[in-house]
Amino acid sequence: MRADLVILGIETSCDDTSVAVLKGGNEILSNLVSSQTDIHAHFGGVVPEIASRAHLELINPLLEKALKTAGVNWKDIDIISVTKGPGLIGALLVGVTAAKALSFALSVPMVAVNHIESHIFSNFLEGEVEAPFLALVASGGHTTLIYVPELLKYEVVGQTLDDAAGEAFDKVARLLGLGYPGGPAIDKASKGANDKAVDFPIGLNQKGNPNFSFSGVKSAVYYLWRDRRIEYEVKDVAASFQRSVVEALVSKTVNTALQFEAKRVLLSGGVIANSRLRKAFSDVSSEFGFELFMPPAEFCTDNAAMVASAGYYRWLKGERAGLDLNPEADLRLREL
Ligand code: KG4
Ligand code: ZN
Repeated sequence: MRADLVILGIETSCDDTSVAVLKGGNEILSNLVSSQTDIHAHFGGVVPEIASRAHLELINPLLEKALKTAGVNWKDIDIISVTKGPGLIGALLVGVTAAKALSFALSVPMVAVNHIESHIFSNFLEGEVEAPFLALVASGGHTTLIYVPELLKYEVVGQTLDDAAGEAFDKVARLLGLGYPGGPAIDKASKGANDKAVDFPIGLNQKGNPNFSFSGVKSAVYYLWRDRRIEYEVKDVAASFQRSVVEALVSKTVNTALQFEAKRVLLSGGVIANSRLRKAFSDVSSEFGFELFMPPAEFCTDNAAMVASAGYYRWLKGERAGLDLNPEADLRLREL
């Protein structure tokens, strides 16, 4: 362990520009996130070209501000950690280029991390978690169950065959006229609503199937809202949809944890900010006796602190990225 190392994390994989300064693997000196939500809300989703331009405008001022907030100088930075992929290629390119320029200018080593892996490491910001464990990453781009036998080794056990959970939240919210981003809007609308108003299907609900599918429930909401809108209140439809997604995420994670005899389950990704989902997972963790980890909501969505943390562990393992580093839009977990 090198608790005194100062790591600069850079995250630009989607629509949030984020820069963080970490000391060791988990002491956050600063973690700034400049969300582009307002820019993209107008279009009802992320527009890749607009995201790249916004990252370009935001990255340099954010770097300066993150160092200032952390109370460190450029010469104090020991390692630079950056997201290589997966994500939007133009967006990733901005972060990777900034990291390469800084690595060269400051003569400090650079480490490349996978975005899904960095979500898992958001759980390390409150202290190192011992492997083996099962991780669920549920975000706007991914819904993946990963068994981690030892740190930085990943076995993908299950994943979505169509939409990601967050994507389904965003599309259904749009359909119901609840706004963008959809996850927080549905979460809010569902409070105090009747989540049993509609019995929406749960995708791939056969026991033992660790994969997810959210297109069925999404279509079911679409047809119900098109044909039988006057029979329901929007908040009840939103809550019923949320119940279907929560049940799928919880039941498949629990079954997989039992199958792998996992004693620890780590949740991460934007969807884990969902209040109903957090409550449901807390309930089952005591029932099934595994230790549950989930980051505070602000670290569930994209942030650079988790990138710095993942980079720290890769650095400890001796990994370094060269100045020939290139982003990869569809980078797989094991390809780094
Ligand atoms: O991890 P993230 O910030 O970005 C990706 O890597 O995709 O996740 C963003 C996703 C969006 O789809 C958003 O609607 C969803 O996370 N999300 C939520 C909540 N907060 C954010 N979904 C459900 N409930 C929430 N409270
Ligand atoms: Zn993410």
